[in-house]
Amino acid sequence: MESKTACDRKGFTLWFTGLPCSGKSAVADRVAEILRQRGLKVERLDGDIVRQSLTRDLGFSREDRNENIRRVTFVAKLLTRNGVAVLTSFISPYRDIREEARREIGSFIEVYTKCPLNVCMERDLKGMYKKALAGEIKEFTGISDPYEEPISPEILLETDKETLEESARKVISRLEEWEYL
Ligand code: ADX
Repeated sequence: MESKTACDRKGFTLWFTGLPCSGKSAVADRVAEILRQRGLKVERLDGDIVRQSLTRDLGFSREDRNENIRRVTFVAKLLTRNGVAVLTSFISPYRDIREEARREIGSFIEVYTKCPLNVCMERDLKGMYKKALAGEIKEFTGISDPYEEPISPEILLETDKETLEESARKVISRLEEWEYL
């Protein structure tokens, strides 16, 4: 099959969700890199970065997390309808708001970075689990705040069993199967 040109590509959003340190950002970054190499227009929206700008006024209550996701959904929707490959990485712990994002965005692919809590805690890249366990961070997802697992995500990644590269390849294969690539 001939490769697609930039103008006949359909935009989509890969919505990465999962516990802190489950691998959302790492896999999304790697997939973004591969997509850029293939000539797609790519945009990344990451919790740690977006929370320093667009949603810097928000905290981690259920209301604030949902508001965070609503604003990100708005941006992802605009980009998606303009043919961009959007990769978001937010804990996005609540099922109902993820479903709202799905309805709004349309070409929405939920990617669940599944990883047992104890493995996420061992990774503890920013030392936040340690602080949460010590009670220094309140409402920390997985410790003192809930995470509602996706029921039927389009893509399930088991980041404790797969390498980063295997997870990224899995996402790319699905995009090919569904003819986004
Ligand atoms: S979400 O729940 O609203 O989707 P988001 O992905 O934007 O969360 O932000 C998560 C990041 O915020 C984490 O990577 C972590 O660095 C930081 N953070 C600070 N406080 C918390 C908390 N109470 N729970 C989860 N993450 C927190």
